[in-house]
Amino acid sequence: MHCLILICAFAGIASSLRLNAHISNDRGFTIAQSGGIGDVVITKFNTLNGTRHKKMSKAKSYGWNNTSRHNLPLELYNNHNGGSINAYIQGLDSDGAIVFIDAKGNLIYPSSNGSLTPIEIKNDLAIPLPPKGESLTLNISIPLTSGRVYFCDGHLKFFMVDTGSGDGLVQPSVNNFRDPSSSLNWGFIEFTYLDNGALYANISYVDFVGLILSMILSTKDGSTPQITRGLRPNAVYELCEGLFNQTTSDGYLWLAMCVIGETGDPVRVLSPNYYQRVYAADFEDYWQDYVDTVWEYYSSHTLAINTQTSLGTIECQVSNGTMHCNEDNRGYPKPTAPDIWSCNSGPFEVQEGDNHVHAAVVPRLCAAFVRSTLLIQGGDVQPSLNSSYHYRVDPTHHYSRIVHELQVDGRGYAFSYDDVNPNGHEDVSGLVSSGNPDTLTVYVGAPPPY
Ligand SMILES: *[C@@H]1O[C@H](CO)[C@@H](O)[C@H](O)[C@H]1NC(C)=O
Ligand SMILES: *[C@@H]1O[C@H](CO)[C@@H](O)[C@H](O)[C@H]1NC(C)=O
Ligand SMILES: *[C@@H]1O[C@H](CO)[C@@H](O)[C@H](O)[C@H]1NC(C)=O
Ligand SMILES: *[C@@H]1O[C@H](CO)[C@@H](O)[C@H](O)[C@H]1NC(C)=O
Ligand SMILES: *[C@@H]1O[C@H](CO)[C@@H](O)[C@H](O)[C@H]1NC(C)=O
Ligand SMILES: *[C@@H]1O[C@H](CO)[C@@H](O)[C@H](O)[C@H]1NC(C)=O
Ligand SMILES: *[C@@H]1O[C@H](CO)[C@@H](O)[C@H](O)[C@H]1NC(C)=O
Ligand SMILES: *[C@@H]1O[C@H](CO)[C@@H](O)[C@H](O)[C@H]1NC(C)=O
Ligand SMILES: *[C@@H]1O[C@H](CO)[C@@H](O)[C@H](O)[C@H]1NC(C)=O
Repeated sequence: MHCLILICAFAGIASSLRLNAHISNDRGFTIAQSGGIGDVVITKFNTLNGTRHKKMSKAKSYGWNNTSRHNLPLELYNNHNGGSINAYIQGLDSDGAIVFIDAKGNLIYPSSNGSLTPIEIKNDLAIPLPPKGESLTLNISIPLTSGRVYFCDGHLKFFMVDTGSGDGLVQPSVNNFRDPSSSLNWGFIEFTYLDNGALYANISYVDFVGLILSMILSTKDGSTPQITRGLRPNAVYELCEGLFNQTTSDGYLWLAMCVIGETGDPVRVLSPNYYQRVYAADFEDYWQDYVDTVWEYYSSHTLAINTQTSLGTIECQVSNGTMHCNEDNRGYPKPTAPDIWSCNSGPFEVQEGDNHVHAAVVPRLCAAFVRSTLLIQGGDVQPSLNSSYHYRVDPTHHYSRIVHELQVDGRGYAFSYDDVNPNGHEDVSGLVSSGNPDTLTVYVGAPPPY
């Protein structure tokens, strides 16, 4: 095993923790141990709801000479140092049914057969990739929504369950450390391939960082191919090292977001938002002092939120414990740690009936917390400071900080409002899209060379 000295020290900690025969978040790594079907936990985060199937059916993919516009070539390039890689393509077809595309191009429609407990899909869903340095190309022959292409060093397990209203796909879960796929090294890209032939695909680090993936989308209109290079090949190790450093410096359990797999090596890193769903208490007070100070400061100063729309700049101020913004339909109570990690609860939950000002303030205010820019010079206008000013003061979102440091081209979301940026500045989203796509190429294990 090739490893840095510090990482080897981690592996030592990892193997000693494993002897404890329990999953530890106690000042160390988290250990994943793949369990059996009885260990599958169904949550909304790992279930894709599909419409009901009567019987397992298998349909042949449409022929390659189909003149319809639904024939998206998907090239899968193996750039991985390690074991053999399998890909899995899943999504919802135009009827909302769960469908996989197998190695031969067959469409596989798995059924739960009415089972209220998960049952494993027995079909061979794996698409084995050729050896390192080679690629294979297959065609996506139907429109798909909620699409994912998974890649795994080994074999992933997928399950079906009767959701009450249909057949649900139970996907591998990163925050169940006994999930049957949990100790394996895997990751996915997400995509939507619309009926009109348009393609949207992204790589996200909002939930976790796993197997390293990059994408190139070429188009038929001859424009420059779009590239999301993603993270450096060794990013999972380096992220674990960065979190180890952070734990060493502030005592918070950042290192426990680093998950060790069956080989004793890190396989993935959970974002704080996912981590807190398992260990809510660990970061409960993390943002407390910062939030209090921000609220105190903006009791006597104005926070200007540039909506970056025709609504212009909105002024906000704290009074009586709540931040109020002009023309906003409601105020913002102090956020808690879970609110800041998720940007989707408490003051950051956008509700039906919220006006356009509110919908514009939420992402910008949450991004300002995540990046800890509210109390630094210039931070009273949001967003106005570019990425050079993000994550510079504690407390901050160190997972997001380190993910961005490890990105080859700075692109790919590390939290859900990572696309908030001063006008005309960086595009940090890892999205590629085209109304007229030619080929989507996914690199597994390491980004393509420049
Ligand atoms: C799937 O359906 C179930 C039951 O109808 C529901 O509880 C769950 O929230 C749905 N999940 C998602 C991701 O929409
Ligand atoms: C193309 O499709 C037609 C039917 O639509 C079929 O008869 C023909 O054999 C196909 N050609 C090839 C090369 O598959
Ligand atoms: C071509 O594909 C479309 C779906 O994209 C399908 O509806 C149509 O029947 C196919 N035609 C042939 C000749 O296979
Ligand atoms: C559902 O039943 C069919 C027919 O017996 C079977 O082929 C299929 O594998 C079952 N589905 C699952 C997910 O086991
Ligand atoms: C994919 O479609 C192209 C034509 O669009 C065809 O040349 C190629 O053989 C198809 N590949 C597979 C694996 O079916
Ligand atoms: C990523 O792609 C999926 C599927 O198209 C979509 O549901 C999701 O919203 C996208 N995420 C981002 C951040 O664009
Ligand atoms: C962690 O700290 C060590 C020692 O200070 C340093 O050499 C290393 O670059 C740091 N790693 C990261 C990813 O920050
Ligand atoms: C201040 O907030 C408290 C409770 O949060 C509320 O009871 C009180 O009416 C508020 N005062 C003003 C002046 O808004
Ligand atoms: C951010 O802005 C400063 C000037 O305020 C500039 O010097 C720096 O290069 C910018 N950084 C990025 C990443 O654009």
